[in-house]
Amino acid sequence: MTKQATTGNASQRTVLKGGTVVDSRGERTADVAIEDGLVVEVGSSLSGSRNVDVSGCVVAPGFVDLHAHLREPGKEEAETIETGSRAGAKGGYTALVAMPNTDPAQDSVAVIDFVREQGKRAGLVDVVPSGCITLGRKGEALAPMAELAAAGVRIFTDDGNGVQDELLMRRAMEYGKGLGVTLAQHCEVSSLTKGAVMNECQCCTSLGLPGWPSIAEELMVFRDIELARLTGARVHFLHLSTARSVELVRAAKRDGLPVTAEVTPHHLSLDETKLATFDTVFKVNPPLRSPNDIAALREGLRDGTIDALATDHAPHPRRDKELALDQAPPGMLGLETALGVALSVLNVDLTHLVRVMSINPARIAGISDRHGRDVQPGAPANLVVFDPNATWQVEPEHLASKSRNTPFVGMKLRGKVRHTVFDGEFTVFEGDAQR
Ligand code: DOR
Repeated sequence: MTKQATTGNASQRTVLKGGTVVDSRGERTADVAIEDGLVVEVGSSLSGSRNVDVSGCVVAPGFVDLHAHLREPGKEEAETIETGSRAGAKGGYTALVAMPNTDPAQDSVAVIDFVREQGKRAGLVDVVPSGCITLGRKGEALAPMAELAAAGVRIFTDDGNGVQDELLMRRAMEYGKGLGVTLAQHCEVSSLTKGAVMNECQCCTSLGLPGWPSIAEELMVFRDIELARLTGARVHFLHLSTARSVELVRAAKRDGLPVTAEVTPHHLSLDETKLATFDTVFKVNPPLRSPNDIAALREGLRDGTIDALATDHAPHPRRDKELALDQAPPGMLGLETALGVALSVLNVDLTHLVRVMSINPARIAGISDRHGRDVQPGAPANLVVFDPNATWQVEPEHLASKSRNTPFVGMKLRGKVRHTVFDGEFTVFEGDAQR
């Protein structure tokens, strides 16, 4: 039977006892009391009507994912906002930025409102819709950015596609600067990646698979850094995958430009040779890269060049992933495994982990009022409790996601979510989803 624990009626006081609180101020041992959706007390020897022993665990602001494909509306066979939200909660997330490549795309206030409403209905995380940069993500005409911004959209992207046209991107940045929003780019010069299946490398030549060259990403990173310099717009680089991209962003930050970047757990942990199995679960865009790229991405995340760990959770139905490698859609699941992969492959302290999984992404998404907050009285009780030492293996049949395309099956992961608290209520208790 599923373990159940809610904080029950509104005035019930729940205390998370004996954990290590980790936030922007570092680490300390403390009990955390929650009441009416807020953290109300942090200290020692606290008690409430419900006391939950979390010794050996970290208590931190809930994770924020800048990059989740929730597939609704239009591709509900792969995921719904509810199943994706549940997967997020199980991964320790309290907010997900929903990517716009839905059908219809998130280029109108009607679709944005629908996504937000479905998120509220599920009530498991804050679903934060991104808006398209161009109508239908077609790269031809700008989406109604001002209208979308007025409806509360803070982050704009055509993810799945990069905006190819330089003039259109310049205009988007000029408007974006005026509106105070962030432009998030999927960096891919599409003329260089036609038919590509995997990283362009020696391996791809011997396997006879068309290559996706690093330069296709780096040219667009470079272009958008220069457009950010020209326009002053805030630009966020999605799923960076190459060593040279990290260097370009590092130099841009040194110049004081308003750029941020993210990396995915899979680009930090899996290399291009995985495609030698011809298994479509390893097909992803941008592709898995070389060990040298992986080392540079890890260093970029460690030294602050890369601000955030973002999942690019991309569910696909089994039927689609069973197609031949050149036909199968790119993408892999990420929400339920991100923490475990991060703790297994990264050599960062817990404060930095919380910075890249919660504090920084909350800032980039423009939701720091509710997420990524220090664990102190008055903060909304959006929290994750995880055991950094627990080891586990992914069992696809136990995933909350509607899809099964995880590349981490059989990998021993370290770091497991015990509880997730959203708006003061347990959405996950002892690893089990509560709704
Ligand atoms: O691998 C990917 N899958 N990369 C993207 O940019 C899009 C995503 C998807 O929507 O499936």
